Amino acid sequence: MRDTPLGAPGVPPPAGLHEALLDWFAAHQRDLPWRRRRSLYGTWISEMMLQQTTVATVVPYWERFLARYPDVAALAAAPDDDVLTLWSGLGYYQRARHLLAAARSIVATSGGALPQDAAAWRRLPGVGPYAAGAIASIGLGLPEPAVDANVRRVLGRWYAGDLSPPAPGPAAVMRVAHALVPRQQPGAWNEALMELGATVCLPRQPQCAACPVAGFCRSAGALAAADGSAAARERPRALAVGVVLVVFRAEGRCWLEAAGGRPLACVAAAAPARTDFGRLHQGLLVLPMTAWYPLPTSPGDQGGALTALVGALGGMPGSATRLGSVRHAITRYRLQGAVLAVDQPGPAARPPLPDRPAGVWADAGRAADLHVSQLTRKALHLFRR
Ligand code: ADE
Repeated sequence: MRDTPLGAPGVPPPAGLHEALLDWFAAHQRDLPWRRRRSLYGTWISEMMLQQTTVATVVPYWERFLARYPDVAALAAAPDDDVLTLWSGLGYYQRARHLLAAARSIVATSGGALPQDAAAWRRLPGVGPYAAGAIASIGLGLPEPAVDANVRRVLGRWYAGDLSPPAPGPAAVMRVAHALVPRQQPGAWNEALMELGATVCLPRQPQCAACPVAGFCRSAGALAAADGSAAARERPRALAVGVVLVVFRAEGRCWLEAAGGRPLACVAAAAPARTDFGRLHQGLLVLPMTAWYPLPTSPGDQGGALTALVGALGGMPGSATRLGSVRHAITRYRLQGAVLAVDQPGPAARPPLPDRPAGVWADAGRAADLHVSQLTRKALHLFRR
């Protein structure tokens, strides 16, 4: 029997839609540690880590986090620096600070009993409507919608013109998502939608031939025919940027400072792409660095542009040596960093340049163990070699 395409948003979905997606999910879901060991606490941690970060990156972090902080009481009692260090590399450190604040609030207000509905989760720091719905449905079995970017795309395609941009606002998408959540297995349904978006209903090249619900989807035929060309426009373009990081060295130590200081002076030809990168690393220690400058599109020219940036660096107090380069992806930036070492006469007692943020002269061997940003960690690796 042929499947029936979905009707207008709000019209009950055709028979068989839920079964088809849930059966597919049961058979094809990725083997993830938070699915193997289900708990409300573990679900909360996974959802916080998965915001803006891929599943593959999160897996080892989730494992380490649960081993170190197996419950909310252990997390609430942890020193901030330890949690940030464990988080280092996941990026968006504000999530870690929110998680810690939420854990402490849960312990302070309810003795460590985790919230039992979406509205109560929503009141905690770092928990938005998506995360509250995901935690309540996956961790508590409540019929709440969870609409992230993947789910929004899947639903937009299912309902074609009625739900794809620019027509509907977020409220319309939420209403549709809400109407679709089944009372039985709401968590599996939400995870199945996310999984479909992450593995089959891809932004650029949707795999309609492998989709378990293509028969219900109003876009399936058109998407396969369009060869993903319309979908290609959905992806924001990555921006190649160059940066110079400076390792000030004195007496076997290097200078690390609180993120958020002004960029090192650099007389570059182009206007910087970003000068407030400190916000991305808030609360962490970083090497002093220049602003981030756009690089040429051709990878072959990028080395020359990076060298020009090094040359344009303003007055360094000491002799500079080039240690090497690092690459790092953060949000939509593809960073290429030139790492310089600048030897200081010592003693390692005050900041190497005037007007720098608070910082420390860290022992070279120990610097990477402090809660440093991942970009700085990579640069320090060159320093230690
Ligand atoms: N992204 C956000 N939550 C997820 C989950 N539970 N499984 C897979 N991907 C996700």
